[in-house]
Amino acid sequence: MQKKSNSSKNILVTGGAGFIGSHVIRRFVTKYPDYQIYNLDALTYAGNLENLKDVENEENYHFLQGNITDEDFINKIFKEYRFEGVIHLAAESHVDRSINDPLAFAKTNILGTMILLNAFKELWDKDWKGKRFYHISTDEVYGTLGKTGLFKETTSYDPNSPYSASKASSDHFVRAYGETYHLPYVITNCSNNYGANQFPEKLIPLFIHNIIHHKPLPVYGDGNYTRDWLYVIDHAIAIDLVYHKGTDKETYNIGGFNEWKNIDLVKLLCQHMDEKLGREKGSSEQLITYVKDRPGHDLRYAIDASKINKELDWSPTVTFEEGLSKTIDWYLKNEEWLNNVTSGAYQKYYAKQYQ
Ligand code: NAD
Ligand code: DAU
Repeated sequence: MQKKSNSSKNILVTGGAGFIGSHVIRRFVTKYPDYQIYNLDALTYAGNLENLKDVENEENYHFLQGNITDEDFINKIFKEYRFEGVIHLAAESHVDRSINDPLAFAKTNILGTMILLNAFKELWDKDWKGKRFYHISTDEVYGTLGKTGLFKETTSYDPNSPYSASKASSDHFVRAYGETYHLPYVITNCSNNYGANQFPEKLIPLFIHNIIHHKPLPVYGDGNYTRDWLYVIDHAIAIDLVYHKGTDKETYNIGGFNEWKNIDLVKLLCQHMDEKLGREKGSSEQLITYVKDRPGHDLRYAIDASKINKELDWSPTVTFEEGLSKTIDWYLKNEEWLNNVTSGAYQKYYAKQYQ
């Protein structure tokens, strides 16, 4: 049911029922009572309104179920709510799924972004003052690093998976709308996030789930792939800063200054899990199973986040040890969330409530 909006500042957050989006929604709804926050989400397999239970009754939170590829629906809600700001997170986000179904990624990530850009342009192109389109993107657009070096904002795009190609393309469209129609935009490219509410298809929550249930831990290839991990709440803090203080037409890289080889991270996770579950030391590591590699697997991602650090005074607030421990505790405490997600029960529950 819709609550009445009485504020002049309507902000659209797309993909707010997903992992990162839910943390962004929580931060904006609780920190900015003068904003009306509209969460537009199609509730795909990755969207879960349980992620927002603690804020769903707030006066300034509104949920709109819909698909960003549905042009009529998007144009209608832009006319009705006249969003002054858009924080666009909705996307197909999992690399392995993009290998099996690349078209779905083109539709949502490229076409969906263009439909949002068009609606925003139609509404405001005679009055850009105070407006902003913020595209949340990924470091994967830069392709892969070798053993050394860091991704900078000036690094050339060189995507290797259908997922990263679709995100690179959507970044280009956002920039093109900025140049062609003067649409005020900002883009951030972030490294791997971890934390509460992440769908257990991604490395950390999948492995936590599998350890709990004594299932194999499928490490791709030799496990010597490197990712730069960032606690999701630190990403939400960065998004808040960039939305409010970032410079128009700029890109900011966001990362954790925290590189881990997959196999080292998995072993650390196993140690924590043994301790927290009171299992014999070394028992979780026995679940590690080396499996066939991901096709086109990028060797290494690592972010140079010095621009956002210098210009907006952002840096991660949570260490990896602390963040990983908090994350495991959250999944252990929220086993029902995890079981509902893996069984599919979370979707049936919300289908009954909202349709
Ligand atoms: P997620 O898969 O957890 O959530 C995506 C959300 O978008 C879901 O709620 C889903 O229902 C919604 N959605 C998907 N297709 C939609 C459509 N066509 N219309 C409306 N809603 C739709 O993703 P996430 O990990 O939270 O990532 C959010 C954004 O951040 C994505 O744009 C992703 O590319 C980017 N990103 C993610 C990471 C990461 O580590 N997870 C890092 C950098 C950037
Ligand atoms: O870098 C940012 C990106 O991080 C985001 O844009 C993506 O949306 C997000 O999914 C993530 O992409 P990755 O492919 O890096 O994340 P994933 O958790 O799928 O994999 C992390 C690493 O672990 C990667 O090297 C592949 C490996 N892996 C993953 C899974 C799911 C395994 O070895 N086994 C697994 O079962």
